Amino acid sequence: MTAPHPAPVAAADPVSRRRTFAIISHPDAGKTTLTEKLLLFGGAIQLAGQVRAKGDRRQTRSDWMGIEKERGISVVTSVMTFEYGGHVFNLLDTPGHEDFSEDTYRTLTAVDAAVMVLDAAKGVEARTLKLVEVCRLRDIPIVTFVNKMDRETMDPFELLDDVEKALALDTTAKTWPIGRGRAFAGTYDLDTNTIRLKDAEESIPVSGPDDPRIAALLPPQDFAQFQDEVLLAQGASKPFLQQSFLEGHLTPVYFGSALKDMGVQDLIDALGRFAPSPREQHAATRVVEANEAKMAGFVFKIQANMDPNHRDRIAFMRVCSGRLTRGMRVKLVRTGKTIGLTAPQFFFAQDRTIADEAFAGDIVGIPNHGTLRIGDTLTEGEDLIFRGVPSFAPEILRRVRVADAMKAKKLKEALQQMAEEGVVQVFQPRDGTQPIVGVVGSLQLDVLKERMAGEYGLEITFEQTRFAVARWVTTDEPNKLEDFAKRDTSAMCSDLDGDPVYLATSVFSLKYEQERWQMLRFADVKDYQ
Ligand code: G4P
Repeated sequence: MTAPHPAPVAAADPVSRRRTFAIISHPDAGKTTLTEKLLLFGGAIQLAGQVRAKGDRRQTRSDWMGIEKERGISVVTSVMTFEYGGHVFNLLDTPGHEDFSEDTYRTLTAVDAAVMVLDAAKGVEARTLKLVEVCRLRDIPIVTFVNKMDRETMDPFELLDDVEKALALDTTAKTWPIGRGRAFAGTYDLDTNTIRLKDAEESIPVSGPDDPRIAALLPPQDFAQFQDEVLLAQGASKPFLQQSFLEGHLTPVYFGSALKDMGVQDLIDALGRFAPSPREQHAATRVVEANEAKMAGFVFKIQANMDPNHRDRIAFMRVCSGRLTRGMRVKLVRTGKTIGLTAPQFFFAQDRTIADEAFAGDIVGIPNHGTLRIGDTLTEGEDLIFRGVPSFAPEILRRVRVADAMKAKKLKEALQQMAEEGVVQVFQPRDGTQPIVGVVGSLQLDVLKERMAGEYGLEITFEQTRFAVARWVTTDEPNKLEDFAKRDTSAMCSDLDGDPVYLATSVFSLKYEQERWQMLRFADVKDYQ
């Protein structure tokens, strides 16, 4: 038996107290329910059901857009801050629908850890797999929460095995379910030999898995099985190595039921105890440590019209170092211009407030009228550019037409704005024809259409193009790129930043060109700079 954990003692300095994380999961695994329970702990909301009230779904997720309401899906990413156990948690919400996966990937560039929620009956699902891949690219440590233990479940050992095999991720079970399905009665802490029956209740020290207090909770057969399993889990589990977790190779696993208020407290304690405080961030020229004195941050998300009463555009910035204060003047590195942070904002479940100060790990909203773009770096003067807010090659390409030909210029401006917000990607063909938009999922097109009509009065339609694939082209031989571009100016485009993009009619024809033009590099991901 190991010694009990000391109560988590939060460090006094503001940076060490912060935990900035996102929840990743396959739709329906329970992300919304878990978010709600986490916020309840933090007192950020008073009543369960506020994150997703029945019938009027997802209130905290901005329901500013008709399309979102109609379809009951969360289109946008938002951030929720709450305090618990001496820590400040910044929970970044991500859209559940895979059509908005770009948004999710960008959000994952702004977190230090992720909670992976699994449905106990299903284990690792398709979207879990994809999201873990993205976490891995950035070495984001993952804490696992196996949800819905109050229902029919897979065998817990099978679940651990599934994570290990499907995700190539080592596991250490930190708790064990006391019964499952209808008999699910609470969680047993494998390190401390304590049990917790309901969230927000004190954990109870027990003598071991054979303690009569546990026996009293379970039918005899389930109790016998529980004892065997705990002994096996304690004996066979890999030791929990913090370093291995921080490097993204090992995940601590917690069992629970968000719906039944079980296991969530174990999870939140784990985040406080194991998840890293704000990590260093890689800029093009150097690594920026969270505890550096000077403020620096990057924009990973732009959101327009969050509040229909104030037609505004908010840039979400992750503070990477230093202290941001209200009113401070900062340099927008892309343009070299200075901007004043007159009204930076913090977000709580349903509210936002003016942020007087913020620290590394915090996410602040910066209201602006189009000055800021995704990928922008703000500093106190240094020419830093943070790396890694990526843009992915779109999978659907459509030409945009506007009914009124007189509005072509307005269309261009509006599309530029949408591209700056990351709603769609816009490619301007060199032959001067109408712009082509690229998206990962078709729902993005619906959002674009609705916003163009609602915000710009532009009725647009989409037309099929002959193109199926887009690639950013780079080379050390610009002349060759020019030669390549000249052959077909309708297939050669410029993106938002003026970078060359080649549109191919099929993967096959792309391959063919790649072979013929070996001095050109065709990339399917582009980092914002
Ligand atoms: P998501 O955001 O990951 O898509 O999942 P969400 O929280 O919306 O949960 C999906 C469904 O699973 C919901 O039921 C929710 O109530 C249920 N659920 C979440 N956690 C648990 C749990 O621990 N145990 C059980 N038994 N169910 C859970 P629904 O019927 O689709 O929606 P609703 O009618 O409850 O709103």
